[in-house]
Order: sequence, then C-alpha cells, then structure tokens
Amino acid sequence: MTPLISSWEDYQRCYAESVADPAGFWKREAEQFVWEKPFEKTVEWNFEEPDVQWFIGGKTNITVNCLDRHIERRGDQVAFLWEPNEPGESTRSLTYRTLLAEVNRCANALKARGIKKGDKVVVYMPMIPELSIALLACARIGAVHSVVFAGFSAQALSDRVDDAQAKMIICADYNRRGAKHIPVKAVVDQAMDLGCNSVKTVLVYNNTGKEVHWSDDVDVWWHDLVPQQSNKCEPEWMDSEDLLFILYTSGSTGKPKGVVHTCAGYMVYSCYSFRNVFQYKEGDIYWCTADVGWITGHSYIIYGPLLAGATSLMFEGVPTYPDAGRFWQICDKYQVNQFYTAPTAIRALMAQGDQWPAQYSLDSLKVLGSVGEPINEEAWNWYDQHIGHGKVPIVDTWFQTETGGILITPLPGITDTKPTYASYPMPGIQTILVDAEGQEITENEVEGLLCIRFPWPSMLRTTYGDHERCRQVYFSSFKGLYFTGDGARRDADGRLRIIGRVDDVINVSGHRMGTAEVENAINEHPNVVESAIVGYPHAIKGQGLYAYVITQDKALDDAFRQEILEVVTREIGPIAKPDKIQFVEGLPKTRSGKIMRRILRKIAAREESNLGDISTLLNPDVVQSVIDGVLD
Ligand code: WT7
Repeated sequence: MTPLISSWEDYQRCYAESVADPAGFWKREAEQFVWEKPFEKTVEWNFEEPDVQWFIGGKTNITVNCLDRHIERRGDQVAFLWEPNEPGESTRSLTYRTLLAEVNRCANALKARGIKKGDKVVVYMPMIPELSIALLACARIGAVHSVVFAGFSAQALSDRVDDAQAKMIICADYNRRGAKHIPVKAVVDQAMDLGCNSVKTVLVYNNTGKEVHWSDDVDVWWHDLVPQQSNKCEPEWMDSEDLLFILYTSGSTGKPKGVVHTCAGYMVYSCYSFRNVFQYKEGDIYWCTADVGWITGHSYIIYGPLLAGATSLMFEGVPTYPDAGRFWQICDKYQVNQFYTAPTAIRALMAQGDQWPAQYSLDSLKVLGSVGEPINEEAWNWYDQHIGHGKVPIVDTWFQTETGGILITPLPGITDTKPTYASYPMPGIQTILVDAEGQEITENEVEGLLCIRFPWPSMLRTTYGDHERCRQVYFSSFKGLYFTGDGARRDADGRLRIIGRVDDVINVSGHRMGTAEVENAINEHPNVVESAIVGYPHAIKGQGLYAYVITQDKALDDAFRQEILEVVTREIGPIAKPDKIQFVEGLPKTRSGKIMRRILRKIAAREESNLGDISTLLNPDVVQSVIDGVLD
C-alpha cells in the first residue's frame, strides 16, 4: 500500500501534488488495488450535468479488495471483533479468512433467492457481524445495498424500499439496544403491509430467539438458508461506475433522497481516507462507534478498515448501558488504539461525570476522532483531558453522506489541532468558501458557504431515480461548484471550522433531519392545520427540534402533544420527535406565503430581542404572540 502521510511537510507536498495533477495522484492510489481489468482513464467530469466518472473502463470488485486480497498475508488476522450488548456475553471475532467464507455463503444465499447484479437489497439490521456480512455479500454479487437505520419506522422503511424497488429485505428478529429489545421483524411486517410490493424475500437473522410472526411465502430464516451454502463464490466484476450502494438521507425539501455511490471511486477514497486520518498501523485495534445505518458506519466500520486490512471493533449496544463507563471499559478490554465517536455521545457521557472514564486506564489510545456535527469547545476539551489525558490527538472529521468519505480533518500527530476546527482539506479535496452570490472569498478570518470545486473519487454520482434533484440540490446554487449546504469559518492560518447547515436541514445528535419531512409527518395529524420545525441549541444533542403547530380546535393539552409525537414516530421514527411543541395561532410568513424560519429560529433560541426587520412580513402582528408563548 502507498505510504501514509508522515509529516506536515509531507501533507503539504501531497496536497499540492493532488491539485497540480489530480489524475496522477489518484491513479497511484488506485493502482494498489486488484483490478480484473485496469482502468483506462482516471477521471472525467463536469459539474453542470453533473457527470462524474472515476477510473473509467476499469473492472473490480470491492470485496476482492476487502477480503481475498488479504488472505495470503493476513488470512488469520482478525478483521472484525464484536462486543455484544450484554457485557457478560461471549464476544465474537472473525478473521479475514472466516469473513470471506461467511460473505461467500451469504452471497450464494442471495443468489439462491434470485438476487442478481443490479438488484437492490435493503438491510435493516442491528450492529452484529451479520450486518457486515450481508453488505459484503451484496457487493460480492453486484447487488446494490441500501441500509436503513433500524431506528426508522415502518413507514420510513417502506418509503425507502419502494423508492429503491428493493427485491429483498435483510433484518433480524429483534435488535438489542441497552435494556431495550426492539421488535424489528414486526416493523418489517408492517412495512410490508404498507407497501414493499417489489420485495420477494425477507431474510431474517435469529438474534434473540424471541417469537416473531411468520409469512411462509416471503420470510426465510438466515440459519435455514445461509450456513448450507458453499463458502466459495466468484466475485461479480463490476465496472468502476456501477452502483455499490444507495443510502437515503434527508434534505431541505421533500422526502429523503437516495445518495448513490459507485464501486471504484468509493473504494479508493474510503481506503485512502481511513488509513491517513487514523494513521492506522498494522496490528492496531480500531473502533468506530457509529451505526452502519449512517455513512460513517459504511466507510469507517466496514469498507475503509477492511480495504486497509485493519482489525475493526463493532459494538452492538449503546454508550450508557449498563453504565456510562461502557465505552471506556471496551477501550481497555480490547486495547483500542483509534477511537471514533460523535460529539453527542461525548456530551452525554461528559454529563454523567468524570468518574466514569477515571475508572479506566485508556492508555492504549493513540487517536481520538469526532464526527457528525460541530464539536463544541467544552466537549473537545473534556475528550482531550478525560479520554486522551492530554496526550492523544483529536481529529474532528467533517464529511457527509454525499461525500462518501472524510474531506476535512486534522491528521493526528501531523496537523497542529485547534478545538472546534476540522482544520484542513485532505489531499485531493479542493475546498473553497463563497459568498451568497457565489463569489470566491479568498481572505482569511471570514465566514462563507463551503463548496468544493473539483471532484473526488467518493463523491455522490446521483440521487437515485432523480438525477435532476441531484443537480438542483448540489450543483445549481453556484456554477461549477459542489455546494455542501454547510457554512464555514476560516481562521488566520487557513483552518476551517464548520459552523453548520445553512439550509433547512437540522442536525440532531448527528442525525440529519429535513424540516419539510418532519413538518409533513406532524401535518398528518388530523387536528394540525400547519406546522413549522426549526432547530435550536441543545446541550446534549447539539440541536433540538422545536415545533410550532397551528391546531384546528386548539386542544392545547399534553395529550395532543403526545399524539403529535406518536404521529412523528409512526411516520419517521423516534429520532425525529420534536423536543418542544408550541401551539401558535399563526406563523410569520413572507408576502409570497413562505414561512419565515429565520424568525422562528431566533425565537426558539431565545434571541427574540434580535429579530431584525419584520415589517415586510405578511402578518407582522403574529410575531409577538409567538414570542409570548415561547417554551423554555
Ligand atoms: C452533515 C452531514 C459525516 C458523517 C455523519 C453525518 C455535519 C458532519 C461534521 C463535523 C461539523 C459536521 C455537517 C454535514 N457534520 N461532520 N466534523 N463538524 N459538522 O453525515 O448525515 O450526511 O450529515 O453533518 O452539517 O453537512 P450526514
């Protein structure tokens, strides 16, 4: 494999090289993989369509590079360690050799149920090794996986299944999360009742042994189908630009969109970024606490680590079960070297007190990572002092479902870190800040809109089934640029600090919510006339959801609030439940009838003294009544 970036000078050299000759730079990275047919051209692109292609003409299979390629040198090395939800239960470990055999068995099982190249498979599973086996099995035979986070509701699941026209759903009987056992097969059953007409098979892994409802015509037990399959399965050779996976994510408008990633570019960048961001060295134990339902889990639990031949830990449970020391206990137990988590988890554990990490040595740690939302200074300092004991570099990594991999981050031990700054772009990533008119801002010590002006291998190629939406959302705001939707600040040294979304996307505990999506869910309640959702600062979640609701019969009681929460849980899932619900008589609107969220955001954040000019509103008088009813 190519050498890791080794120093600040080396980073600067790599970065300069990647800008001067992107094709040459990525060609070298790509050539270390196994190709069934070498690529002819490294990159072709235009951001107007958009049309982005990498490693054109090549054929490969990501599982060959994740698994087969490593067998000779590290067949008996552990690929995945697995820690169960219950601390006392036995752990599991899969070597590269056993993982390959299991993936092949599962791949043959998918084939036995008629799944072929290009078919879509929705995966709705707990954090168990079979989840990674299922994903890799899809990739083995060229099926396109679409993981749906197991916290989403039956309605949300069936929407995604229908959009992707998936032929199969892979799930478990129950998920275990702390003290709760969640009946996920029952959610799949409900989703099947709501839609999912394309689904021919529901493959069910027996995770807890509890009773489930069974339909003989579609349901198949994993243990009845997978173990009896051959452990050999020839990989499907995929064109570089064939689909690898779809991952649904929320946007400012409409339903969640299916972000499409393709085989070769995603492979090259997830490996490159994993190795360099975590400075992974042979023998290290790496742990990312994300759920595979999000892009972080795809790139930095499964693909990146396996491509790099790493040993990666997967954890089934939650940070606070059985107590708030669980993460730190696991770090000591496995002697974790690189630990990667979200600011929400850090803040939640920080709130439980310093005595929890103090019980553990934590001295195996070499890198601490943060991802998913801005990390505030207090959380950064706590992470630094109480987990890193002041001597472990923190990497505040910025990326998105759409970017496939980490684009802005310090490199541990290499970049001089500064709290709350994601710092500098990775080699190959040409970030720029622009103003509202799309003019580049070249000075430092400024704020602007974060854009990227050159393609990178793991960028999204389209939004599934709706290319125009992809163009509209990401490529139409500013000509020739990919617009991230984030605002950023650049300091005097050129470091970037991500401020957060400038569109109608809200980041709650690192989970992305679209205002329109949550509003549509609330509006499903028959007594709701109209609603508006905004984000407001929340001590643990980063942002909380604040709902303003106009009701028909003004039954302003807690039972009605409860019904609204239920509607949201049913339509999207518990993660989208508003933290506060204020009943209002009207919503401030522009003359053209658009809700003025800027004003609602200020009120929710208790900055009502600083609303700016409201005289141009259609209904300025409504503002005071909203302020009068604001919730603490
Ligand atoms: C949005 C993307 C990155 C994988 C998980 C979330 C926010 C992400 C950071 C960070 C500040 C961050 C951005 C981004 N975000 N990482 N280090 N600092 N903000 O992926 O669900 O697609 O959300 O998360 O606002 O646009 P996602």
